[in-house]
Amino acid sequence: MAISKGLADVVFTQTEISHPDSDNSNLIMRGYSIDDLVNGNVSFEEVAHLVLYGHLPSESELSALNAQLQIDRVLPPAIYDWLRKLPEQVVPMTMLRTAISLLALHEQGVEDITIPATLRKAIRLTAQFPMICAAFQRIREGKQPIDPSPSLGHAANILYMLNGKAPDPDFTRAMNAYLVMLIDHSMNNSTFTARTVASTQADLHSCVTAALASLKGPLHGGANEATMKMLLEIGDESKVDAWVDNAFATKRIIMGFGHRIYKHGDPRARHLNRLAEEMGRKVNALKYYNMSRMVEAAVLRHREIYPNVDFYSAAMMYYIGIPIDLFTPMFACARITGWSGHVIEQYKEAALVRPKSEYVGPRDLHLPAA
Ligand code: COA
Repeated sequence: MAISKGLADVVFTQTEISHPDSDNSNLIMRGYSIDDLVNGNVSFEEVAHLVLYGHLPSESELSALNAQLQIDRVLPPAIYDWLRKLPEQVVPMTMLRTAISLLALHEQGVEDITIPATLRKAIRLTAQFPMICAAFQRIREGKQPIDPSPSLGHAANILYMLNGKAPDPDFTRAMNAYLVMLIDHSMNNSTFTARTVASTQADLHSCVTAALASLKGPLHGGANEATMKMLLEIGDESKVDAWVDNAFATKRIIMGFGHRIYKHGDPRARHLNRLAEEMGRKVNALKYYNMSRMVEAAVLRHREIYPNVDFYSAAMMYYIGIPIDLFTPMFACARITGWSGHVIEQYKEAALVRPKSEYVGPRDLHLPAA
């Protein structure tokens, strides 16, 4: 029996949503190159429409989506009550995973898995994810949650709800580009998880809760937070080379490097490198950007492993003032839309995901005689 550990190279379905083109170091999003989407300053809302409906929106479609997101930027009071009662040291991804389960209790038609109902819930969850993250942050700072601003777009609203002041346009631009780049990425672990759950015909909130559990791990979405902690642990530019040498000598995994698909570099990392530098210059603090560049060079001296999407996004998010343990929840704020698109594809495919395993345990044990 041929076994593919970690399902590497196993093609389990077809998708029209996104494709990491490893040979050309490109990410294709429903036909568009990620370079074009980022360089063209396309908004997260437009790419959300692309992912969910299959095409970039017309002006009226975009207005309708923006209006719906605005209507959906509401949380049930029970969520705020629950956030206020959380234990002090709760990890944000644990909070977010549980919050989505809790949200399901308050979602009308939560069990409806028809495509129109799932699309409605997908848009509502896209609107609600940043609200939960921001309310959590405000409450743990001992502050009041901030209502979203109807005059701001999705990326700007995230920063506004976190900080309570009109966001800097450059920070908004960086956050928007981040969300666009992270919105979908084919059959990564959390998307596969969401599709696996969807294949049992479970509802969208169940699929997304499971996907969040997957995203939390440091080998997946947790890598951005782990990268920033690594930079802080290294501490100084003068210590980078020795730290990386020691990491290789002790076989320590270097966070934010390597990828299951991209073996010659992650196309998103190029943009995030640039954005991290721009944000570092803006806040007059290039230290962590410079250290990131040095880590990249030092890793490459050991072996051909390149930064992935989580590497330069760490310094970028740090510079725009996102708390380190909210880095992965920010990733989730983008990926919620991609997960939803895949859940819809999986509902349409209607095939239960159920692989096989090779049994290597004993076969001839017997209960002791009574
Ligand atoms: N640091 C050090 N070595 C790494 C590495 C890293 N970040 N990523 C890969 N390698 C090494 C592996 O140890 C392996 O070495 P070997 O051939 O001597 O056994 C080799 O490179 C091939 O990597 P492999 O483990 O086969 O790749 P994978 O596809 O199974 O793993 C990741 C992909 C993402 C899990 C892996 O690169 C990793 O753990 N990266 C760090 C976590 C991270 O940034 N995750 C976010 C991904 S977007």
